[in-house]
Amino acid sequence: MNSSPASNRAPTAADVDLSVRVGTVSFRNPILAASGTFGYGLEFAHLVDLTRLGGFVTKGLSREPIAGAPAPRLCETPSGMLNAVGLQNVGVRAFVEQKLPVLRKFDVPVIANVFGYCQEDYVEVIRALEDADGLAAYELNISCPNVKKGGLQFGGDPAMAAEVTRAARKAGAKRPLWVKLSPLVADIGLTARAVEAEGADALTIANTYPAIAVDFCTRKSRLGNQTGGLSGPAIKPITLRLVWEAWRTVKIPIVGLGGIETASDVLEYITVGATCVQVGTASFSDPKVSERLPQELRAACFEANLFTINELRGSFCTEIG
Ligand SMILES: Cc1cc2nc3c(=O)[nH]c(=O)nc-3n(C[C@H](O)[C@H](O)[C@H](O)COP(=O)(O)O)c2cc1C
Repeated sequence: MNSSPASNRAPTAADVDLSVRVGTVSFRNPILAASGTFGYGLEFAHLVDLTRLGGFVTKGLSREPIAGAPAPRLCETPSGMLNAVGLQNVGVRAFVEQKLPVLRKFDVPVIANVFGYCQEDYVEVIRALEDADGLAAYELNISCPNVKKGGLQFGGDPAMAAEVTRAARKAGAKRPLWVKLSPLVADIGLTARAVEAEGADALTIANTYPAIAVDFCTRKSRLGNQTGGLSGPAIKPITLRLVWEAWRTVKIPIVGLGGIETASDVLEYITVGATCVQVGTASFSDPKVSERLPQELRAACFEANLFTINELRGSFCTEIG
């Protein structure tokens, strides 16, 4: 707890230490807003006190602007949501020139989410971000089709995931490199190990699950893009297992995300090994959720006799009985 030794007062929930470190990056609390669900952060600044978040991850940034997928782009599903936004974004240059100068005014770590359709795209985006101030780390989204490999996802194959990580490292990235893994793999440990070996500083686990929603009356998909990515509470148990599997395999820190809505959800991810978490879909029903969660987390920790959030990490007990 943070209580000063000089004070004789009884500790309260406010004394629980929520600060975490992902490699060299420090966060005041473990709650980050997830890529694609929090715009460039600025869109939320009138609703949310950004400085109360642990941090946030930008919308995915590409070499050139992308217009995105046809509507409808979102569709509600039981305990979740499907999205096919098509990675719409302003492009890395407009981000650096127009968004980043405003973001720098907020005292909050910003992580730039980076994607591409070939290795050179990732390298170009990182080079464009390297000279700009105001970013804490890069997060590589490798759940993208590799056009040079017949559209197979980078993240679906450990060798391709390793190659794109190596290329990003070779691009001279001075900032920490987080790699956001695809959940659509037979063995997440293989991908986790492969990107760790190429110098990833942390893993973000995981992205959405490819899925479809059908309207049988029209015989059509409920999304303009036909298929989309499933997110929200429906995916939490599956992604929790992926975090646990990866945590047993690698030494680098893990950022967990998938279906987090409550303080208990956060604590579950930390129990299976996550150092911090991201909150995505929950921001659609409550844009202030990432601002609210740190306080709820303090109360939940205090209730559970935890003095620092870090005590819980990886304490998942596999004994039976
Ligand atoms: C509308 C929407 C857009 C997203 N866009 C991105 C993106 O640009 N890059 C990325 O890495 N992940 C993106 N994601 C995935 C989320 O960051 C997150 O991995 C996923 O939604 C699971 O977390 P959740 O269940 O808390 O939403 C997007 C998710 C949603 C719902």
